[in-house]
Amino acid sequence: MFETLKKATLDKIFVLMAEYAADPRTDKIDLGVGVYKDDTGLTPIMNSVRKAEQRIHDTAMTKTYMGVVGNKGFSAAVVDLALGGIVDLKRVRTVNGAGGTGALSILMNVLSRARPGGRIFISDPSWPNHWPMAELVGLKPHYYPYFDPRTRRVDFPAMMKMIDSLTTDDIVLLHGCCHNPTGANLAREQWDQVAECLRRTGAFPLVDLAYLGFGDGLEEDAYGVRKVVSSVPESMVAFSASKNFGLYRERAGVAIAIGKNETDAEIVSSQMQNVIRATISQTPDHGAEIVRVILEDRELRAEWQAELTAMRERMKRLRVKLAEAIRQRSNSKDFDFIAEHSGMFSLLGLPPAVVERLKVKDGVYMINDSRINVAGIPEDRVGELADYLLAAVR
Ligand code: LMR
Repeated sequence: MFETLKKATLDKIFVLMAEYAADPRTDKIDLGVGVYKDDTGLTPIMNSVRKAEQRIHDTAMTKTYMGVVGNKGFSAAVVDLALGGIVDLKRVRTVNGAGGTGALSILMNVLSRARPGGRIFISDPSWPNHWPMAELVGLKPHYYPYFDPRTRRVDFPAMMKMIDSLTTDDIVLLHGCCHNPTGANLAREQWDQVAECLRRTGAFPLVDLAYLGFGDGLEEDAYGVRKVVSSVPESMVAFSASKNFGLYRERAGVAIAIGKNETDAEIVSSQMQNVIRATISQTPDHGAEIVRVILEDRELRAEWQAELTAMRERMKRLRVKLAEAIRQRSNSKDFDFIAEHSGMFSLLGLPPAVVERLKVKDGVYMINDSRINVAGIPEDRVGELADYLLAAVR
């Protein structure tokens, strides 16, 4: 049986994680996988999460099945958090996903049933898993222009030109906020134009919302997704609680579908449930229940928001510090974009050979496209990191 298979390519993010783990150097720096880290380099369990877990431990009576749609309280709270009441709930249907990726996978499966072999347009560049996920369900991935490597900003005219040429048969995958891997994001007026363009062309928006609250704030980061879903008749959103609740391995996410009307919403709901049943039957609930407990409790919710704000502010501070350290040393503004980007990542625009050298020589790990996870910058070693980066590009 297995002799017919070829070795599959593993995602570069997880390959790098393994290389980092195997590196014996104690002064190595991990700017690779997108997980939040605190001052000590730890990816902590949030206090609000610990308290919610304790509460669940003390009060839960059963672990019986939840049903195929999953934890409805979790989904409802997430819809409220992400969409803020912007669409009539009669048109909204949800199922839990195993993390944001699980949610995205359910939605892509349903879209591939709606448009077998249909085209899905993904930003160039994008999270490396978007493309294979689309291929796996039989959609045909294409790129739309997104990042201008010269300015390190969004190439908005090129992006719009492409989206404007799409049809009602096409799907556009948008990063709701905190673009991964570039860190370059759309301004509000640009979101307005994208939403208007999608309304005009009828191209279908699928929004990946994996970093809500990591950019400028919960409400601020939700601007784009709310604008899009309120401008078009039909859309989908994949929400992840991995980053903003620090629940990575618990796999908590919500697949949200918004139909033209209640009848369509019911149909898409049955399709999402059908995909879940035929793939994993039920989604995990522990992470979902933690988020539900937090979002439904005033005190825990406030504590979570404060913790999220602290994470966001730390990442912003690290951005500013690194950009400043490089500016002072080089007397140039070439890396100022790091402070202008938002979210967890910045694409530095370094050639792969430079990225490799930084890893081998200095123990600085970043993804080979030169994406850095800013949360991984050790605050007390910002100057040292600036030195490594500058020496590498000279
Ligand atoms: C990342 O982009 O590093 C994270 O989203 C982790 C992952 O699953 O790739």
